[in-house]
Amino acid sequence: MFKPHSSLKKGDRFRLGNNSGVDDQLDAVTSVSGRSRCSKVNTLLNSIKVTSLKFGMIESSALEDISSSNTNEIKHGVTLTWENLTVVSDKKATFKISNLLRKKEKNCSSKNTIINNVSGIAQSNEILAIMGASGAGKTSLLNALNFRNNQSLNVYGEIKVNGQLIRSQNELSSISGYVQQNDLFIESLTVKETLIFQAMLRMDKSISKEKRFKRIEEVIHDLNLKKCQNFAVDIQGKKGVSGGEKRRLAFACEILTDPLILFCDEPTSGLDSFIALSVIECMKSLAKQGRTIICTIHQPSSEIFELFDRLCLVSDGKLAFNGPINKCNQFFESQGYQVPVNYNPAEFYVKTLAFVPSDKENSLEKLKKICDGYEKSDYYQNLTREIKEVCDNKSFQDRINMNTKNE
Ligand SMILES: Nc1ncnc2c1ncn2[C@@H]1O[C@H](COP(=O)(O)OP(=O)(O)OP(=O)(O)O)[C@@H](O)[C@H]1O
Ligand SMILES: [Mg+2]
Repeated sequence: MFKPHSSLKKGDRFRLGNNSGVDDQLDAVTSVSGRSRCSKVNTLLNSIKVTSLKFGMIESSALEDISSSNTNEIKHGVTLTWENLTVVSDKKATFKISNLLRKKEKNCSSKNTIINNVSGIAQSNEILAIMGASGAGKTSLLNALNFRNNQSLNVYGEIKVNGQLIRSQNELSSISGYVQQNDLFIESLTVKETLIFQAMLRMDKSISKEKRFKRIEEVIHDLNLKKCQNFAVDIQGKKGVSGGEKRRLAFACEILTDPLILFCDEPTSGLDSFIALSVIECMKSLAKQGRTIICTIHQPSSEIFELFDRLCLVSDGKLAFNGPINKCNQFFESQGYQVPVNYNPAEFYVKTLAFVPSDKENSLEKLKKICDGYEKSDYYQNLTREIKEVCDNKSFQDRINMNTKNE
């Protein structure tokens, strides 16, 4: 029989369906690896689909006693660099990881080029915001950076972590997390149950239950979810948690495994400005723990914009700027565009770089002028120098071992 979340008591346990104790299933999942683990995860997920969750037992006793100390510190951050990244749509082509090792193809048809020869850098302790008008290529760039592009797209260029070439999504996923634009949760689970479930599935099988529960408490604390930890994510059409809390829960799920890099597509979409600010403040504190955060964002308020450290502006798939946020103004001024007084700079940059269909020729000419201007500027020279410094720095490279996740 369904038991409302508010009536759950310490010592209760929860169960998936009638006969399948979640503990047994999760233990089965976490005690194996490889293909076998995959099939057990699928069984577990299927059982959730067919049997709606029934709350006979909630395992909360183990959690209540664990201190909520926030001691989780990332020792070494990482720097992500990308050079000459090009994404080309080609219906016949299949996504080949090996293409990443090649330079840009010479015969790419420009009309199919979604991302055109873009380089950049994202560092630890910082948020890099990818901005541009709708359709400029923000999501395509973010997806290319974490190997999530659609199969009909060809990706060329080099992506490196601390100067080490990344060849596959597997290599990157062991040190990174991806917060999707649309939250996908089992709606009848509470916030804490969602995290227990995610911890059992995502965290390495060698990590003890106690450590997993401790980590859950840490992320609940870090993401400010304590107040709503026993609310359902979304139940019977009645919202259990707010939009901002739901978005923070998405971050919480991703940081359970302590990723060094976090990719987020439009973390504030659909949220009002106040809640959006609280989500970006959360991102900021995650960055301050040593993470490298890369997000796309369409139209941030000026308060949100000030929280970003670095800006990557794209226009029609081309790079218009990548550098510290406080240098962007100077660059636009050097191109003849001055942010008006009391104007949100983010809005000004996006507006200036937007393609205007009704004035196609002038618009394209203006955008080309700005992007070419950036490529010839000192700001671009600085960017290429920064990328080279990271890639040439041997001690930097030694800091990261992509296979040491969760150790
Ligand atoms: N798989 C694909 N095949 C062909 N074209 C694509 C594909 N994915 C994206 N595009 C095109 O690439 C361009 C950039 O799309 P993208 O989604 O990256 O833009 P965006 O800047 O994220 O826009 P928004 O702010 O609306 O989310 C668009 O013109 C889009 O139609
Ligand atoms: Mg997008």
